[in-house]
Amino acid sequence: MSMDSAPNRTVAFAFDIDGVLVKGQKPIPGARETIQLLQTLDIPFIFLTNGGGHTEAQHVAKLGQRLDLTLHPRQFVQSHTPYLDLVPEFGQQTVLVLGGHGQQIRDLAHAYGFMKVVTSSDVMSECQHIHPFPEMTGSHHEEHGRPDAIPNGKLRSTQIAAILVWTSPRDWCLDLQVVTDLLLSDGGVIGTRAPTNGDEDLPNCGFQRGGQPRLYFCNPDFEWSTEHAHPRLAQGAFCKALAGLWRHMTRGRAELEYELVGKPTEPTYRYGERVLREYAAAELGGSVDTVYMIGDNPESDIVGANSFRSQHGIKWESVLVETGVYTPGTTPLHEPLHTARDVTDAVKWALRREG
Ligand code: G3P
Ligand code: MG
Repeated sequence: MSMDSAPNRTVAFAFDIDGVLVKGQKPIPGARETIQLLQTLDIPFIFLTNGGGHTEAQHVAKLGQRLDLTLHPRQFVQSHTPYLDLVPEFGQQTVLVLGGHGQQIRDLAHAYGFMKVVTSSDVMSECQHIHPFPEMTGSHHEEHGRPDAIPNGKLRSTQIAAILVWTSPRDWCLDLQVVTDLLLSDGGVIGTRAPTNGDEDLPNCGFQRGGQPRLYFCNPDFEWSTEHAHPRLAQGAFCKALAGLWRHMTRGRAELEYELVGKPTEPTYRYGERVLREYAAAELGGSVDTVYMIGDNPESDIVGANSFRSQHGIKWESVLVETGVYTPGTTPLHEPLHTARDVTDAVKWALRREG
């Protein structure tokens, strides 16, 4: 009998992290006990977060420390986990990675299987004048830029096949400059410009049509919940800034083209469901019938769960909590099945509903 038709209908959970289980470094009261209860009851659950910046094993260990619990890396889907599916295409080509600081994202991309990785600090080390305002960040890039990042080559003669944004870029000014340069380049080579046909700046091939790098984002969140009183700008805000610049730079002739994973996109929910089913089968010997997505962001967690149509007949239900991005008492942009005060109430409500 396949897992899909297993007789024991099972409830499962997908937890958002920031604003549901933690706020910055601090656990949200009751989160630890709630997860522990599910562990005791052998109820399958995964973490489905738009956070990232570490390998799944490192991130789950960090969360485990914060909650003082033992968690399994197989339960963890973060914003950039679906980038694993890009390794067959780009694993041997040169990619520019953005986000995080220092070596962090380079090491992460290597751990995923991308072998030729450059950062914007590396670009600075070869093209010092690319960033006109290095006063405040230059020493960081000097410390972390590696002129030898391209094996046997120079950036100025290397095609960058893809730009992968892993977490919120730190030096927006530099990163916006480098990305727009590459999108205007001749075939993805830093320092070049695509040939034009005489019509001002319009490239012969059209915008993003002449071998310029493909562009990937993994977290559409415009803002996220931290210890600060009000939500903070996230990776989605950088994407919007870039799209605005691009519209201006192309004089309204082109919209920025990019691919997107992370909640609320369908690939991330599909990925999360696969991980959940595999975890439930391997670790608990069970199947999954209904998944409750517990989240704090209507525009991410809630709309994603509401609109995802499982190919395996698994039902996704959404529960909004009041401990994060959503302002209690306001009408959420996307309506959840239920609103709960916090993660403890959300899980209790769902378990009662399932009988
Ligand atoms: O940068 C992380 C943030 O955008 C959201 O994380 O756990 O709320 O999906 P999470
Ligand atoms: Mg959240």
